[in-house]
Amino acid sequence: IAIEKGNYRHFMQKEIFEQPTVVAQTLRSYLRQVDQSVALPQIDFDLSTIKRITIVACGTSYYAGMIAKYWLETFARLPVDIDVASEFRYRDPVLEPGGLALFISQSGETADTLAALRHCRAAGQTIAVVVNVPTSSMAREADLLLPTHAGPEIGVASTKAFTCQLAVLAALAAHLAVKRGRMDRAEEAEVVQHLLEVPACFNAALAHDDEIAAMAHLIAPARDVLYLGRGPDYPLALEGALKLKEISYIHAEGYASGEMKHGPIALIDEAVPVIVLAPSGPLFEKTVSNMQEVRARGGKVVLISDAAGIAEAGDGCIATIEMPQVHPLIAPLIYAVPVQLLAYHVACAKGTDVDQPRNLAKSVTVE
Ligand code: G6P
Repeated sequence: IAIEKGNYRHFMQKEIFEQPTVVAQTLRSYLRQVDQSVALPQIDFDLSTIKRITIVACGTSYYAGMIAKYWLETFARLPVDIDVASEFRYRDPVLEPGGLALFISQSGETADTLAALRHCRAAGQTIAVVVNVPTSSMAREADLLLPTHAGPEIGVASTKAFTCQLAVLAALAAHLAVKRGRMDRAEEAEVVQHLLEVPACFNAALAHDDEIAAMAHLIAPARDVLYLGRGPDYPLALEGALKLKEISYIHAEGYASGEMKHGPIALIDEAVPVIVLAPSGPLFEKTVSNMQEVRARGGKVVLISDAAGIAEAGDGCIATIEMPQVHPLIAPLIYAVPVQLLAYHVACAKGTDVDQPRNLAKSVTVE
């Protein structure tokens, strides 16, 4: 079947806007509405006996894994190790019996990730994969196949595959939490409820498209851009920086908000826009104080937060983007949208080739 752009200018744009549909589609195969529970495909292995999870992936899929680490540790109280695939084998990782190795990949063919999978297989790990291509090598070699139903992703910079990965990983974390006796049925139902709210919250986030397009001129002239976040929004800061680099060729770095003092603050001046990802909640005050440090040095802050966060800390920012008030579990999915749109519109403002950025490939099949 021919995949068309329809009314969109670019595949990336189309794929960003498909997220409410494809994430809902993905969630449908993991959430049981009847009893508000999470259901995974059958597996010949008792998931409650896992002692440790090793996550391996590349690029955007790696950042999905970093976010999943927060969920798996918080909800399931499972220790998680995570590595980029190109480093994993070479550090001679300790893989004890009873371990689960989890690979995340849109294509299911990325050479380094596939090599890491085979390494873990040889080391006796149970292999789980989150992939978007069900016929891929990784899908075929898995014990536990957790598909994302994002549909074909054409834009080189991953968008909808990322949020579908997050949806599956959140469901997996809840499932393991239940299996390990760390979450009761009522809490599981609550998680299911929050996940079911994701598509509507995506629509609310996508409604800011025009506004974000209008702010692209604030970022497009920059030579460097910094993204800051805390907790699960830290990997999202990394993902934001990656998206901007990939398609607009602006140098960008993602940093844990609290780590900014240990280096990147030296870069801050009026020419460096700082994108702060900060839903209101327990980590908000700390991030706000990091933001003030940026402002005190003339840094231009774009704050992405909810109404409460913007009311409290929006003054003095060069721009704010208001997200719906969401549960912390789903915040990384929802906040991914403005991060993607910002990179997209900045790239359009710069006139780069959004779908086929220079030097990049959709699927990297060499190590
Ligand atoms: C390439 C793509 C990225 C992707 C990464 C991992 O670098 O340009 O968008 O995140 O590969 O790909 P995978 O298919 O394993 O998720």
